[in-house]
Amino acid sequence: MSEETVITTTEAPVTTIARIGEYEGKSVTLKGWLYNLRESGKLLFPIFRDGSGTIQGIVPKAAVSPEVFETIKGLTQESSVVVTGKVRADKRAPGGYELDVENVEVVQRVPEDDPFPISLKEHGTDFLMEHRHLWIRTPRQSAILRIRAEIIKAARDFLDDNGFVLTDPPILTPAACEGTSTLFPVEYFGDEAYLTQSGQLYIESTALALGKVYSFGPTFRAEKSKTRRHLTEFWMVEPEWAYAGLDDLMGLAEQFISFIVDRVLTRRAADMKVLGRDISKLETIKAPFPRVSYDDAVKMLNDAHAKGLLEQPFEYGNDFGSPDETYISSQFDRPVMVHRYPAAVKAFYMEPDPENPKYALCVDVLAPEGYGEIIGGSQRIASYELLKKRIEEHNLPLDAFKWYLDLRQYGSVPHSGFGMGIERAVAWICGLEHVRETIPFARTLNRIYP
Ligand code: 4AD
Ligand code: MG
Repeated sequence: MSEETVITTTEAPVTTIARIGEYEGKSVTLKGWLYNLRESGKLLFPIFRDGSGTIQGIVPKAAVSPEVFETIKGLTQESSVVVTGKVRADKRAPGGYELDVENVEVVQRVPEDDPFPISLKEHGTDFLMEHRHLWIRTPRQSAILRIRAEIIKAARDFLDDNGFVLTDPPILTPAACEGTSTLFPVEYFGDEAYLTQSGQLYIESTALALGKVYSFGPTFRAEKSKTRRHLTEFWMVEPEWAYAGLDDLMGLAEQFISFIVDRVLTRRAADMKVLGRDISKLETIKAPFPRVSYDDAVKMLNDAHAKGLLEQPFEYGNDFGSPDETYISSQFDRPVMVHRYPAAVKAFYMEPDPENPKYALCVDVLAPEGYGEIIGGSQRIASYELLKKRIEEHNLPLDAFKWYLDLRQYGSVPHSGFGMGIERAVAWICGLEHVRETIPFARTLNRIYP
């Protein structure tokens, strides 16, 4: 629907709350909803929202027609309205402006006896998730979704501008990429197929065709875990780079993250304010990032345990648990890149370290402030023989991986890539407690509605 075809009440130009500052002293038309209404006798204070922000309107009985006053008086929350008013700068207003209301047209009035379910009082998380389709209208949730969009755009701009070509891997796949325990099976015309866990294996092939590529799409894991970091459906951005080694990959990861954080800080400052995010914790996020080997990270954990800072002793050879990651990241003011984990705890496709094949040439990027792993990546096995052996050792079906082995048969090269989970990145940058607020409709172990 173009802006011209939508009803307008006056000649006042249509704009958005985000851009209202360009119209100071002038009358404008806003198309939105009533977020809240305070009434004090002959004065009404409606707060409007339009998807780009919120603004308070002022309606003195003496200044508007009786119809306008009566229309707004008692107007129900989330009624849709087209409102005209004069823009006035006000230092106390959160967005810097207020609207002296001149006219209003109600597009749909929410019935009094069936009010908008999410009132301005506190609600429990279950209730809010059950009403997620409406919850996203509230200023905080809207701000998060705008920041999410900015993070996605920044990720894509960074890769596009650095020579990475977007190539879209399939979502229906015949085999596992990240372990067989979290596969979602789907019936595929009598065969069993799976929803993809990662585009990686496919973009390894596009990388060997195009050099530098990336994928950006939904990925699925049948995670039985109910943590604040796990979704069953999430979005991953994955660059893959031919002729790149682990050091190149770590350089890419730190540039990538620094770029994204900087973009959000410059373009989404108002939304970060809505969230009350402590920006000083993000202003330090600049490459280079600290690089710590798995072994050194384990030493840090052992020392911390000896000093009584960590409850559980860390067992060498395991993957890090959430408290371990939190402790390691708390030692730094920017993301930390932990590299060279024992190959035994990592995926089958990772290149062993030539200096000691017990280790994999891999990296996990741990976000500050306890947000844990946001990026996982590695150099990939280049040798046909070794890759075949690993597929067999992991009891993966060789048939389904024949094409993947072909990549090592025809012009194999060292190549590397990583995946960043968008929701983990959004949770960290926004400072959220749980990833369920980072995506419009979170899919978790016990929720698939709405
Ligand atoms: O570490 P992961 O499993 O790595 C891969 O899938 C590689 N194939 C990526 C690659 O090398 N191209 O997942 C990558 C990232 C994690 O660091 C995390 O940010 C996110 O994906 N992630 C999840 N996010 C939300 N819910 C889950 N269940 C997630 N599992 C992984
Ligand atoms: Mg990982």
